[in-house]
Amino acid sequence: MKVTVIGGGSWGSALARILGDNNHDVIIFDRSIDIVNEINENHTNKSKLPVGTLPLNVSATNSLELALSEALVVVIAVPTKVIRSVLKQMNLVLTHRCLFVNASKGLEPDTYLRVSEIVYQEINNNFIEDFVALTGPSHAEEVINQLLTIICAVSLNKQAAKTVQSLFNNSKYFRVYTSYDLKGSEICGALKNIYAIASGMLTGCGLGDNAKAGLISRALVEMRRFVVAFGASEETIYGLTGVGDLVVTTTSEHSRNFQAGYRLATGKNLEETIASMTMVVEGARTVVAAYQYARVNNIETPIIDAVYDVLYNRKPVKTAINQLMKRSLKDE
Ligand SMILES: NC(=O)c1ccc[n+]([C@@H]2O[C@H](COP(=O)([O-])OP(=O)(O)OC[C@H]3O[C@@H](n4cnc5c(N)ncnc54)[C@H](O)[C@@H]3O)[C@@H](O)[C@H]2O)c1
Repeated sequence: MKVTVIGGGSWGSALARILGDNNHDVIIFDRSIDIVNEINENHTNKSKLPVGTLPLNVSATNSLELALSEALVVVIAVPTKVIRSVLKQMNLVLTHRCLFVNASKGLEPDTYLRVSEIVYQEINNNFIEDFVALTGPSHAEEVINQLLTIICAVSLNKQAAKTVQSLFNNSKYFRVYTSYDLKGSEICGALKNIYAIASGMLTGCGLGDNAKAGLISRALVEMRRFVVAFGASEETIYGLTGVGDLVVTTTSEHSRNFQAGYRLATGKNLEETIASMTMVVEGARTVVAAYQYARVNNIETPIIDAVYDVLYNRKPVKTAINQLMKRSLKDE
């Protein structure tokens, strides 16, 4: 099948590797000519993934028109900050129906919209075959090296989820399940990045596994409150796209959200932290949407509030942790 991947960053490249390994023809669109040239000439993307190669059936372009001209499936893997503008450009050049697969994770500040909702807003609906979120515990750095990974193709349409399951499943290293709670999966995938920042902060303050396990457990409580408020399925919290993704991102140094939290705890401010990263820190944007949504809908989110205060009100990390520990005593 001909598949287009929008975004040749670490995740877009890793996903292209799986598709290439599965014998699909893949074209990656990226705005960076350096990335495009490196993929075409060397079959690598070292600025994003220092180790690992791309198969020969993966090529790249910085022409959106060319990238989309023959696509049957379009995989979105750009930072959520630019998704709206990229979709607007895509809408201008699309000429036929495509299956949309989203691999990016975030919630839009002010609107609280999920990526699926933004896709249906920005793309002429006649050109959308269906929408599937590909999400779950997965670091690009491991996938590009064919290390065993298990994730989910999530859609309101069972057939579309199954199509994406077969497209990406690779019995050697990439197992794909299907599930159907799109709303819950998108919310969990977005929120977990905030808790990864919190986890990096704990490690940066010299705290250990006890603190991290406590964070993960209480993060699940906050995630459940959100999932309920959005009217999604509570069960999603306990699956690959919920606790699975939360665990991988809060416990791994591959996570750039974790790394951002670590740097914030060691005295850098948000601007310095973002400037020092070569990859997107989605949690820094999603925390704004989550904080706003929690205020409007009266949801208790002490961890999200603490991360927000450190990032946007310059509260020192240690003060935020002390304040969380001094909250009134309560039942679990
Ligand atoms: N890296 C991972 O392991 C991983 C895993 C799962 C999901 N994700 C999600 O995937 C998304 C992308 O993450 P990433 O790690 O690949 O980020 P990244 O920073 O490595 O790459 C982003 C890419 O998007 C490109 N880009 C930015 N603006 C663009 C535009 N306007 N037009 C075209 N290309 C543009 C950049 O040039 C870059 O190559 C994020 O939402 C992230 O949460 C990442």
